Amino acid sequence: MSQSIDRRDFIRKSALATLGLTFLPHLISKAAPSDKLRIAHIGVNGMGNNHMNWFAALPDVDIVALCDVDKDHLNKTLGKLKELKPGTQATTYEDFRHILDRKDIDAITIATPDHWHAQIATLAFQAGKDVYGEKPLSYTVKEGQMMLKNLNKHNRIFQLGTQIHAGDNYHRVVEIIQSGAIGKVHTVRLWKTGFSPGLGHPKPQTPPPSLNWDMWLGPAPYADYFPERCHINYRYFLDYSGGVFADFWCHIADVVWWAIQPKGLKSVTARGEKTDGIADAPKWLDADMEFDGLKLYWTSIPPDVPGAAGRHIGAYFEGDKGTLICDYESRSITINGQTVTDIPEIPQTLPRSPGHQQNFVDAVKSRRQPESNLAYAREMTLPMHLALISWRLNRGVKWNAAKEKFMDDKAANALLNRKYRKGWDLV
Ligand SMILES: NC(=O)c1ccc[n+]([C@@H]2O[C@H](COP(=O)([O-])OP(=O)(O)OC[C@H]3O[C@@H](n4cnc5c(N)ncnc54)[C@H](O)[C@@H]3O)[C@@H](O)[C@H]2O)c1
Repeated sequence: MSQSIDRRDFIRKSALATLGLTFLPHLISKAAPSDKLRIAHIGVNGMGNNHMNWFAALPDVDIVALCDVDKDHLNKTLGKLKELKPGTQATTYEDFRHILDRKDIDAITIATPDHWHAQIATLAFQAGKDVYGEKPLSYTVKEGQMMLKNLNKHNRIFQLGTQIHAGDNYHRVVEIIQSGAIGKVHTVRLWKTGFSPGLGHPKPQTPPPSLNWDMWLGPAPYADYFPERCHINYRYFLDYSGGVFADFWCHIADVVWWAIQPKGLKSVTARGEKTDGIADAPKWLDADMEFDGLKLYWTSIPPDVPGAAGRHIGAYFEGDKGTLICDYESRSITINGQTVTDIPEIPQTLPRSPGHQQNFVDAVKSRRQPESNLAYAREMTLPMHLALISWRLNRGVKWNAAKEKFMDDKAANALLNRKYRKGWDLV
């Protein structure tokens, strides 16, 4: 049995003991340093720094390694870790595979660009690591399938980094809708304002010495470097992501999948515009989706429904007894013309989160999947992929939900997967 499995088994037993599920008083009498989860952060610029700050604040976590293909980001983040945790012994790596080789690391977090998520997570599952991974779950539909297959095969834990899921508002919205207060929901409208920028027409450059451009590209097709294609702005290029739409879908679709679990997706029709620059992700994208008994619309401006104007991101649920509109922090419910922010008689049925990252740590210890687990995240993310495919093909697409394939549509089915650069095939 490997050292890391021994460690995890020990941690699990400690957690079970804490829950009163087993009698191992010697394990719970004193929290030994090895009770702590040993975590590595992979991709440590914008969101990766948030990961580090959040996990550094948890008492039962030790950050033992950082990884980035840009040495400047790596060194800056190590500097910040030293301020947060003076005396840290964290080691730094350019290649995440060295972290996966380390038997003393229990879990990783991933905040790389989207085109890397599935490769790193899948290899991590195969190496026996648990993963806290950023949204969107994957770059293609097939990647989500491969991630789930490997998670199950290797008995791993995964939490999607949709931290808003842990907030009280989403919990309450779900309780209200699941109580039946607005009746059976037949229409949902989701939106996020803001356009993907075009980024001009920059010329290729030599990558800076701090950056391993080849490793940044990884599984994506080779492309010449220019800064606008790389850090932060990569999200506006189809080789790596899908613009504002793909950036924000998961954050707000989450409350819908949690509240009503849309099933039986039948069709998706997306419209949109191209940018006027080199960025090729949609400048904006609107999509109409049809599920069993549910129509779902995504728009890039607020829909024409009461309470939507002025909200930059939102979800509107229309049921046969009333409506509910919400965003990350607030909600309002309209029933029979009366608008309220809550219905206090509806009991609190969902346990509140101890925090999105703590929920992951608890899941690693208990070996019970966390709230934004992979199976859930995959179902919630899938329509996002299909809308991008419809936009790319400039036509509607018909979906066979049982087979997870488009119906009689070779061109669309070809876009469920991608061809990887050598060495990065998913198995
Ligand atoms: N949950 C949220 O609210 C939220 C918010 C912002 C971003 N995100 C997600 O976080 C991810 C990162 O976004 P960002 O804005 O921080 O991007 P970023 O470009 O600022 O940072 C990505 C970092 O990953 C590094 N990187 C690239 N390939 C790597 C590899 N193979 N190994 C190690 N490091 C690698 C880059 O050098 C860079 O430092 C994206 O998937 C994004 O969707 C989530």
